[in-house]
Amino acid sequence: MSAPADDLDLAALAGGHLTPVLGRYFERSWSHGVGHRLYDTGGRAYLDFANGIAVTALGHAHPAVSAAIHAQVDRLIGPTGAIGYSEPVVRLVDRIAATLPDPIDTVFLLNSGSEAIDGAMKLARRVTGRPAIIAFQGAFHGRTYGATSLTSSSPNYRRGYEPLVPSIYLAPFPQVWREFDGDEARATEVSLSRLRTMLESVVPAETVAAIFIEPVLGEGGYLPAPAAFLRGLRDLCDEHGILLVADEVQTGYGRTGRMWGFEHAGIVPDVVTIAKAIANGLPLSAIAARRELHERWGRGAHGSTYGGNPVACAAALAVLDTIEGQGLVANAAARGAELTAGLGRLKAEDERIGDIRGPGLMIGVEFVSNRETKAPDGALVDRLVARSADLGLLVLSCGPQHQVVRWIAPLDVSAAEVAEALEIFGEALRTA
Ligand SMILES: Cc1ncc(COP(=O)(O)O)c(C=O)c1O
Repeated sequence: MSAPADDLDLAALAGGHLTPVLGRYFERSWSHGVGHRLYDTGGRAYLDFANGIAVTALGHAHPAVSAAIHAQVDRLIGPTGAIGYSEPVVRLVDRIAATLPDPIDTVFLLNSGSEAIDGAMKLARRVTGRPAIIAFQGAFHGRTYGATSLTSSSPNYRRGYEPLVPSIYLAPFPQVWREFDGDEARATEVSLSRLRTMLESVVPAETVAAIFIEPVLGEGGYLPAPAAFLRGLRDLCDEHGILLVADEVQTGYGRTGRMWGFEHAGIVPDVVTIAKAIANGLPLSAIAARRELHERWGRGAHGSTYGGNPVACAAALAVLDTIEGQGLVANAAARGAELTAGLGRLKAEDERIGDIRGPGLMIGVEFVSNRETKAPDGALVDRLVARSADLGLLVLSCGPQHQVVRWIAPLDVSAAEVAEALEIFGEALRTA
């Protein structure tokens, strides 16, 4: 697609009517996207390693996804799930179930990650008859009231909203690098022990419906949960009849070099929440769990007007065809290893990089003003993100002080694009 001739300032065009509430990483005006390039309204191309925050995981205007959307738009946009069955919906739930381990075989479709989290909270309470839910400090699960109540990655996400949903308890997340100097075993042991103490003294285990965890903390700073910690959680949940909910909204769909983040730990959660990459940009999300849990949740216990829209489901089928047909989970693992190695070379020459972590193409690079004290340097990261964009590369930040540059390359990124991104980021490091 050719770039438009005029350099539109869309912020000015909005005439002050666009809400100031929405945060933005870039004050730039976007025109269109092709493959892994996003174009601004001046016609300038940017290598897009942000992907709308891990959403357009196959890049922009992907031919197979666009074709599927066009075909479905001309055939059937509605009706919603409450009216009856439609083919893309029925085929998609089958395909999603096939990507998940036994016994997870049943899928409820919604529109956003937050809705999937709220639905999973309701499922957990209804099915167990218990009120309490545990999430982790620093986690991000979304913006609806339920999801906000589980979220603590930034005080701004909670401030002024209390009372939040009651009976939510936040446990310490194993901060392997910051608190335990990279010792995963110790981080696991201490964090599980803190959780057990919480179950003994703060919230009795028999009142807990579910534990929600992101296998890699996303917004909170791209912090992988140690595999042994996830296995410990699984054991704890089994011991006390608690449902383990894996929030795979960001980690899912191959992002970590496995289809699902929990696979790295060899565990099977009870419930999986899915969104973001699922339809490469169209609104769609899912709650997956074994059939028995859905049956106990009960017919009519939850619903959605738009959830499982046939057009979004058609896009999602094309996404799965592409991921599976092109071996993109393996590509995420291979390109992720190259990216991590390249970032490691930059770290060797730059004292400001404190830590590089994360599986596959979910890589966090944490910046510090002092390697000894690990004092976070969010101001530097803000400059690096801005400078990288000026140089033609889009990367994002995360972490409580936005001190982490997060790398969310498309799943079908090439080795040449990884090299190009590293070159640009190296230049940003020298000049930011
Ligand atoms: C792990 C995780 N869960 C839930 C959400 C909420 O998803 P949504 O913004 O689609 O509501 C997000 C969004 O960033 C996320 O990263």
